[in-house]
Amino acid sequence: MGSGRIPLAGVVGDPVAHSRSPRIHGRWLALHGLAGHYVPLRVGAGDLEAVLAALPRMGFVGVNVTVPHKERALALAGEATELAAAVGAANTLTFRTDGSFVADSTDGVGFLASLREGAPGWDPKAGPAAVLGAGGAALAVVAALLGAGAPEVRVANRTRARADAIRDRFGPDVSVFDWDGAGEMLEGAAMVANATSLGMEGAPPLEVPLDRLDPLAVAADLVYAPLRTRFLADAQARGCRTVDGLGMLLHQAAPGFERWFGIRPEVDRAAREAALQ
Ligand code: ATR
Repeated sequence: MGSGRIPLAGVVGDPVAHSRSPRIHGRWLALHGLAGHYVPLRVGAGDLEAVLAALPRMGFVGVNVTVPHKERALALAGEATELAAAVGAANTLTFRTDGSFVADSTDGVGFLASLREGAPGWDPKAGPAAVLGAGGAALAVVAALLGAGAPEVRVANRTRARADAIRDRFGPDVSVFDWDGAGEMLEGAAMVANATSLGMEGAPPLEVPLDRLDPLAVAADLVYAPLRTRFLADAQARGCRTVDGLGMLLHQAAPGFERWFGIRPEVDRAAREAALQ
């Protein structure tokens, strides 16, 4: 910092009260004996630009951004990593001394790390991947899967135009399915990920029929509250290995923490438990 101020970080979103990120970062700060705070910041869409301009003047070294700000934050950034530019969305912002910020996307690396941890031996190159949803989280997941060598990524979304936009962005290795036919895209898929908000506490469950899902496929949910969604329970009942959304949340958080506070934190069982407390 240099200024002698206690470094601050946080998560900017709306809604944001449900976020587990303050617990995750708060535990890492305490564990490493670091002075610093990580706070939830509820900011509406119309206020994002003004808030991001003010935060560095208040001692903030960086923030995560979540719904609905991930695409706008990228547009406002003074600089973006190649990955964030390719994804078209950012979740990790790091302020520079002149008040501008660098935008990065760590959701995709978080997703892959969580899958590798939760389903050891899973190989993204092994077969087609199916992604439900086409929002900011889905963008990062599709980019990560393609980057990791998935031969094909199938996308279905309620609003088909957003799925078409993902295909336009990433090219012919992405194929688009109608939301009504989402069950069909599971045929022959080596993995399926729920990147919609369906299944989250307070939202209706994801009701895509899983009868075509190979029991050898891996099913991942980005939803982490609840941990065991109906989608994961149904996939497990078919014999699939399942990966909940908490691992991705932890693994996307670690690079931001390292950038802001200077120590690479460990994503382990204790970190998981702290996030759930
Ligand atoms: P995030 O950044 O978390 O991805 P988002 O951009 O708001 O958030 O995306 C939410 C995703 O959940 C979208 O794919 C959305 O579908 P639409 O693009 O049609 O809005 C999906 N979603 C939310 N509620 C849904 C519902 N009731 N049925 C089907 N899909 C839903």
